[in-house]
Amino acid sequence: MEFSVKSGSPEKQRSACIVVGVFEPRRLSTTAEQLDEISEGYISNLLRRGDLEGKSGQMLLLHNVPNILSERVLLVGCGKERELDERQYRQIISKTINTLNETGSMEAVCFLSELHVKGRDTYWKVRQAVEATQDCLYSFNSLKTRKEEPRRPLRKIVFNVPTRRELPIGERAVAHGLAISTGINTCKNVANMPPNICNPAYLAEQAKKLAEQYSNIKVEIVDEAEMERLGMGSYLAVGRGSKNESLMSIIKYNGGDDEANPIVLVGKGLTFDSGGISLKPGEAMDEMKYDMGGAAGVLGAMHALAELQLPLNVIGVLAGCENMPDANAYRPGDILTTMSGQTVEVLNTDAEGRLVLCDALTYVERFEPESVIDVATLTGACVVALGKHATGLLSTHNPLAHELLNASEQSGDRAWRLPLWDDYQEQLESPFADFTNLGGKGAGTITAACFLSRFTKKYHWAHLDIAGTAWRSGANKGSTGRPVSMLTQFLLNRSGQEQGE
Ligand code: BES
Ligand code: MN
Ligand code: ZN
Repeated sequence: MEFSVKSGSPEKQRSACIVVGVFEPRRLSTTAEQLDEISEGYISNLLRRGDLEGKSGQMLLLHNVPNILSERVLLVGCGKERELDERQYRQIISKTINTLNETGSMEAVCFLSELHVKGRDTYWKVRQAVEATQDCLYSFNSLKTRKEEPRRPLRKIVFNVPTRRELPIGERAVAHGLAISTGINTCKNVANMPPNICNPAYLAEQAKKLAEQYSNIKVEIVDEAEMERLGMGSYLAVGRGSKNESLMSIIKYNGGDDEANPIVLVGKGLTFDSGGISLKPGEAMDEMKYDMGGAAGVLGAMHALAELQLPLNVIGVLAGCENMPDANAYRPGDILTTMSGQTVEVLNTDAEGRLVLCDALTYVERFEPESVIDVATLTGACVVALGKHATGLLSTHNPLAHELLNASEQSGDRAWRLPLWDDYQEQLESPFADFTNLGGKGAGTITAACFLSRFTKKYHWAHLDIAGTAWRSGANKGSTGRPVSMLTQFLLNRSGQEQGE
């Protein structure tokens, strides 16, 4: 897809389609009014006859509108003008893109980016439009023998900005939106890949591909032999029941001063989580291929970062592993020695993510990180608490937590903070080891983070639980590409890159 920005009046556009908004009830947006005037009331006539009310998401495609240079005009219902908010804006863009794709317009000039969205500037509207478009056009069909593609797909879209003065802002928004979408697509592609293909070695391959593509990215792979030497007893235990070797991929992006301490992103990369000996029930178990969503998100954020070439040092860690039941598998009751030296009594082999992450979190101490953010499909409890809308955020460092909440607010990739008070720590007490891997009844997301907090004392740390947000179930099953947008926004903010006006 090709994106650009322009500042012009609608009647002067010569395109396959121009897209303008109509508000409820039957009220023309400024640009729609301009078209109406030039076409001598053609559009207002249609509205008067009741063809379009202007309800959010309504579409009316017109051909051969009098005196208009473009072949088509797409009227898009935008709801009540005063109520147009961020979510509606994105939805309207998505519907528009789907309609354009189905109706054979291969290019379009879109004026929806000029609509007033409460509290949002041109930068935001254009960037969101680019991201929403790319999200809409994504499909994962590389494993289908017969691919369904639109006959005349949308190839080129121009977003209009109100004044010429805003063109540079719009261009920056397109560039950022494209880079983020590239990262999101990388995340989706690897997350959607089935677990018989996407194993820890496959994750490592994707990391190496990034290093081949960008000269300031280097990749190292930590294999089981190396983990053994490092004493990563907890990580190794989880992978012991699998034929696929556990592999931890270290992706180093060097864009900042050599002395600058890196930001470290650690992703849970369970390429399949069967639960192990504490086997999961069969229903929807296929979705546990998405248990590497954290690693996919980190890979995607690294890709976006490399596209943006931000002046930062960032290290991405993909903690690849597979949790399977087997004669050699670890069991409930086992006591493991973690890389930190702390011992853990395993009470449930399905609480494996924290066992992999804890050793990865100890491993990254060697980088003397400025801060560490881990990303994980860690707990079903997070889905109960926040559903599919918000990522769970837990942190022992308030400034870092606020930075991430800000980034989520700016990017529309939402997160909500849960407490991490010491009161919860006692739920991990064990009679036989330093602590257990199971928090018992209540606050499962918090006790999982409590577990991790015992391995993150040496740096500023935040944890993102993406169990509810990384993928969609049901008819529209698939990776969402979250939280690539939030993470990239965080990095953009850290780099001090100017965004809006
Ligand atoms: N990967 C799962 C968490 C999960 C479950 C994410 C469902 C999304 C949807 C994790 O490894 C797990 O199994 N967690 C257990 C922890 C429990 C045994 C303490 C859970 O949430 O049930
Ligand atoms: Mn599990
Ligand atoms: Zn898991």
